[in-house]
Amino acid sequence: NEKKGFARAHTNIALIKYWGKANNELILPANDSISLTLDKFYSDTYVTFSDDLTENSFFLNQIPMPKKSMKRINHLIDFTKRQYNYSGFAKIQSYNHVPTSAGLASSASGMAALAGAVVSALDSTADLTNISRIARLGSGSASRSIFGGVVHWHRGHDHESSFAEQIVSEKEIDLNMITVVVDRHQKKVKSTHGMAQTVATSPFYSTWVDEANRAIPEMITAVQNNDFTKIGELAEHSAAMMHATTLSANPAFTYFAPETIKAVRLVHQMRSTGIECYFTIDAGPNVKVLCRTQDITRVHNFLAHEFNEQQLVVARPGSGIKFTKN
Ligand code: DP6
Repeated sequence: NEKKGFARAHTNIALIKYWGKANNELILPANDSISLTLDKFYSDTYVTFSDDLTENSFFLNQIPMPKKSMKRINHLIDFTKRQYNYSGFAKIQSYNHVPTSAGLASSASGMAALAGAVVSALDSTADLTNISRIARLGSGSASRSIFGGVVHWHRGHDHESSFAEQIVSEKEIDLNMITVVVDRHQKKVKSTHGMAQTVATSPFYSTWVDEANRAIPEMITAVQNNDFTKIGELAEHSAAMMHATTLSANPAFTYFAPETIKAVRLVHQMRSTGIECYFTIDAGPNVKVLCRTQDITRVHNFLAHEFNEQQLVVARPGSGIKFTKN
C-alpha cells in the first residue's frame, strides 16, 4: 500500500526580511516578511509513503541525508501524518536545481517542494495555504515559496495563522534580481543560528521587529502599484537594518565579506549615474541587485567591470508550486 506525491517549488528572495523567531518549535517569525519568487532555481521532490517502511529517509541529489540532519524533515512529516491520520513512513528524493554556483539558498525551495509532495501524497485536494503552513515547519522562508510573484508571509500567532499569500503574480511585477556571487561556499553562520543569536543579544532587536512590521503595508502598496523605486528603497533599507542587528549582537558578527562592500558600492555608483538599481543581502556574503527589465543588460554590464561573467546570475519572477513537471 503506497501513496506517492511530487512537487516542484522555486526559491525566493526576501524584500522585507524574516529575521528572528517568536516560537522556535513552530517556526513562528517575530515579524511579517515579503519576498519575490524566482524563476530558474527550483527543487523537485518525490515522496513515497508506505506501510512497509520503518523510518523516513531523505536523499538530496541522490545522497542520503544523515539522521542527525533529519530533525525538521521528520517534524514536518510527522505533523502532516497526524493531520491526515496516516501512520506509514516516507522515502523522499529531492533534486536541487539551484546551481550551487548561484549562491542562492536552496532550503526555501527544498522545504516547499517537500511540503507540497508530502501533502499531495496524503491529500489529492491539497490546499496551498495548508502547504504553506507545513513548509514553514521545514524552514521559515519556505512558507513563501508556495506562491509565485511577490508573496507576504503573515507572522501569525499560532500554526493556523502563520502562512504566506500572494500579493501579485509573476506576470504583474517588473522586478528582476542579479546575484553577485562573492563566495559560493556554505555560509559560516547559518541563518537559524544567526537570527537566534541576534534575538537573544542585540539591543536593537525590538526596533528591527517594529521597523520590519511597519514597512509591510508600505511594501504591499508599492508592489501593487509596481512602484520599482519604492520597492527598491524599502528592500535595501530592510536588508541594511537586518545586517545592523548582527553587528549589534554579542558577540558581534557579520555576513559581509570585502567583496560584498565592493558590490554595494557599484550599486551606489550605478544610481548616481542614472541606472536605477538597489541591493539586498541575506545570511551570506552574496549581493542581490534588483532592477527593472529594461535595465538588466546595463546593470549586468556595469557589474561585469568588477566581477566575472560566472559570478553574475540573472533571475526573473517565478511561479508558484506545481504538482506535475513542466
Ligand atoms: C536572511 O528560512 O533559512 O534569508 O526558518 O531557521 O530555516 P529558518 O531560517 P531561514 O531564514 C531566512 C533568513 C533570510 C531572510 C528571509 O529569507 O526572509
